[in-house]
Amino acid sequence: MSAETKQTAKLVLPAGKEITLPVITGSEDEHAVDIKTLRADSGFITLDSGFMNTGSTTSGITYLDGEEGILRYRGYAIEELADKSDFVEVSYLLINGKLPNVAERKAFSTALTRHSLIHEDMHQFFAGYPPTSHPMAVLSAMVTSMSAYYPDSLDRNSAIDLHITRLLSKVRTIAAFAYKKSIGQPLMYPKNSLKYCANFLHMMFAVPSEEYEVSPVLEKAVNQLLILHADHEQNCSTSTVRMVGSSGANLYASIAAGILALWGPLHGGANQAVIEMLEDVKANGGDGKKFIDDVKNKRDNRRLMGFGHRVYKNFDPRAKILKKMCDEVLAHLGIKDPLLDIAKAMEEVALKDDYFISKKLYPNVDFYSGIIYRALGIPTNMFTVMFALGRLPGWIAHWKEMVDDPQTKIGRPRQIYTGEKLRKYVAIESR
Ligand code: ACO
Repeated sequence: MSAETKQTAKLVLPAGKEITLPVITGSEDEHAVDIKTLRADSGFITLDSGFMNTGSTTSGITYLDGEEGILRYRGYAIEELADKSDFVEVSYLLINGKLPNVAERKAFSTALTRHSLIHEDMHQFFAGYPPTSHPMAVLSAMVTSMSAYYPDSLDRNSAIDLHITRLLSKVRTIAAFAYKKSIGQPLMYPKNSLKYCANFLHMMFAVPSEEYEVSPVLEKAVNQLLILHADHEQNCSTSTVRMVGSSGANLYASIAAGILALWGPLHGGANQAVIEMLEDVKANGGDGKKFIDDVKNKRDNRRLMGFGHRVYKNFDPRAKILKKMCDEVLAHLGIKDPLLDIAKAMEEVALKDDYFISKKLYPNVDFYSGIIYRALGIPTNMFTVMFALGRLPGWIAHWKEMVDDPQTKIGRPRQIYTGEKLRKYVAIESR
């Protein structure tokens, strides 16, 4: 479905100059004023730092209504996909725009299994990193390096579907290898008999000296976590992928850029920051109220990590699913995590507090995901890697949508210059 242009909007500029601009309407009746020609027609640009209210593209991948707490991939509700689908099927859906039939699903799964190994020479890279390396640094560098191992990816007309399959499959292997390397254990090769998420758990937690059986509950939890992270329309990392890809950069380079954008604590790094915050509260006596008080008074610029969202101003539907999953996973594993108690107590206080209510700050996807990852045995510095693994099909879908769109132009915002006016250069001896 493409956007419709039926209405127009009028903009009155200083000196009474009136400009008529087309209004674009999306399939869920969202409206945008198309300002593409504004500068050419009037000399004005729009200014919107942080892109608070700027659409950078039309897209048919994900629908999000922050006021109503709605999230849909290709028209399917996130609640239904998390409950009934699995990560491989959701990846197919996001990238191809439809759910696979039996034959398509089989072919996709087989391809993912076949492409799970990384080139043996790339193993030396892992050896070169210090054990203290953050796995996001390793992951981004390894994904960039894949363009060196598959140089045909530099040609936009190369077999893109093959690169997409490679990326989806190998990122999982790279992520697990980065973890094994960080704890000094031997790398565990993928096992072709296992499904995508089970294979990831095997590479993460199996050791050569004993049998490792993947728990179906944990496999389901990983599937759900990855599904919940799989896409979120034009966020910081996805927009980065589209921006980098718009210059003609290859798929691997564009995705590596997305991984790096995700790393920041205000984006994908928030799940790690949440656990660090909860540990800090625990170390200081477990009183979340004191921390919340600091947040409200902006002491040390503290924020309640895992709270707030640029788009969700009512509730984050993913956080609701995760809170329930958190209780289930911990109960299944028989784990009693004091951080969960602190998190729940802090959530309760914040949800009743006027500071958070007035600013429409609610728990986001990261508030509980870290506690689940901990319960699964995934270390804190791997949390953002898990997010990257989940977000990968979304990034790929956006990259593909952009590349396939003949209207795509290189991303190049404008600015309002606020620096010095023209001044004369003075030689250093005279300064
Ligand atoms: N704790 C305390 N105050 C907050 C928080 C928070 N978590 N989030 C926003 N605020 C306050 C800000 O201080 C600001 O207050 P002010 O008006 O008095 O200056 C106001 O709410 C608006 O905040 P902005 O930063 O302008 O809102 P924005 O939409 O730009 O930020 C963001 C959204 C980055 C997610 C923010 O809420 C935040 O930093 N949250 C904590 C980090 C986090 O959990 N990130 C994960 C996001 S989800 C994801 O990436 C998957």
